[in-house]
Amino acid sequence: MDSNPISRTSFPESGLPREEVLRTLDAYRLGDGDWKGGKTWSLVYDAGEEITRLTQDAYEKYFHTNGLNPFVFQSLKRLETETLSMVADLFRGDEHVVGSLTSGGSESVLMAVKTYRDEARALRPEITQPEAVVPMSAHAAFEKAAHYFGVKLVHAPLADDYRVDVAAVEKLITPNTIFLVGSAPQYPHGAIDPIEDLSGLAVKYHLRLHVDACLGGFTLPFIRDLGGDVPPFDFTLPGVSSLSADLHKYAFAAKGVSALLYRDAALRQFQYFAYGDWPGGLFISPSATGTRPGGAIASAWAALKFIGRKGYLDITRGILDTTKRLLAGIRAIPALSVLGDPPAGIFAFGSEEINIHALADALELKGWVIDQQVNPACLHFMVTPAHADAADDFLADLRQAVAEVKAHPESFEAGSVALYGMRAAVPDPGMVNQFITAAYSRFMTEGGELSFEDLGDD
Ligand SMILES: Cc1ncc(COP(=O)(O)O)c(C=O)c1O
Repeated sequence: MDSNPISRTSFPESGLPREEVLRTLDAYRLGDGDWKGGKTWSLVYDAGEEITRLTQDAYEKYFHTNGLNPFVFQSLKRLETETLSMVADLFRGDEHVVGSLTSGGSESVLMAVKTYRDEARALRPEITQPEAVVPMSAHAAFEKAAHYFGVKLVHAPLADDYRVDVAAVEKLITPNTIFLVGSAPQYPHGAIDPIEDLSGLAVKYHLRLHVDACLGGFTLPFIRDLGGDVPPFDFTLPGVSSLSADLHKYAFAAKGVSALLYRDAALRQFQYFAYGDWPGGLFISPSATGTRPGGAIASAWAALKFIGRKGYLDITRGILDTTKRLLAGIRAIPALSVLGDPPAGIFAFGSEEINIHALADALELKGWVIDQQVNPACLHFMVTPAHADAADDFLADLRQAVAEVKAHPESFEAGSVALYGMRAAVPDPGMVNQFITAAYSRFMTEGGELSFEDLGDD
């Protein structure tokens, strides 16, 4: 089957037999990334059949329910409140900590930014252009949120260890600053920002602080319990006013659920949206979406209840073991260098010796799906239980791929090397964004390869 087909098809006249529908779905996904075999390093967080089956069963029970109206689905309200209180307990919040379940990390980030903007509008009306100081490494969802909600993001540089430079953050605070951000850990290099110091700044300057634990929220507390060196990043720090942690990542719930917690209900109120003049009735919605799939909420509750602290400790121990093996194998290859000292199964490596984008292509030819990064150029990995069995194969392929790129760099000039080379050659970031948008749009409508062919078109 064509691995990247674009098919337009007319609206079906009469329904197909069930078996045919399901067979076609199976056929369509044959070309997808092999996450079960551990060939992908992002997007899917799978802790094995037993947990998947349980979360699927939970989802199915609530398949048609809708969290938009907690008066109709009181059970969903209960599941949401219980899930949030379990998560608040994990992050050592007191009984005042409340929150919302959202559809994922991006929506949690969007809502946190909107909350702080609206709080500032209400309490600091003298600020006409609100600003937030965020690490360079903060997730792109903050850029999206700032763009949507009219907040100016001021980017703080990273220190040599890839954690945000707190002295630089302090210098970037202005009278317009309304909140700070720290990640625990950040996505690009897996480093944990110095949240304790950021909390100190938040207290000193009367600012809000959002901790983005979307990615590592459900590993860091267990790494700490296993004796790992995890600095405090949660509600034990007085400056932390909100924290996001994705249940659909390392908590292993179904896709579509993240927890966003606030220090108290008064702050959460700025997240809500109400409209009382609608002919459709008194409208109130807690977050960005209208309909909220009950299945995702039920699966989150079920994952936490089924796995429990002991289960997450075991899973985290396994992830750390696999990560240790991978990092040792990578560090044994002289051409490669791991960025910083990543504590949580999320890491990146680069190279001074070979073109890292060529290495990505060499690995892709061996069946791996590789995430590539810039500033600095490196490859990105997130370890899950699926990688326990794949790690040795990966290291063997990595050693071979490094040798291939070293021996024949010219064979890898056309693919990612050319793509990232073109990106680097365009000085205007706005233009790069335009090209990415055009290339993505073409890919979605016409298929083919994602490339910068549109460079210079307009
Ligand atoms: C640190 C961090 N924050 C936010 C997000 C956004 O999460 P989502 O993809 O669920 O919207 C991610 C995603 O990887 C992340 O790593």
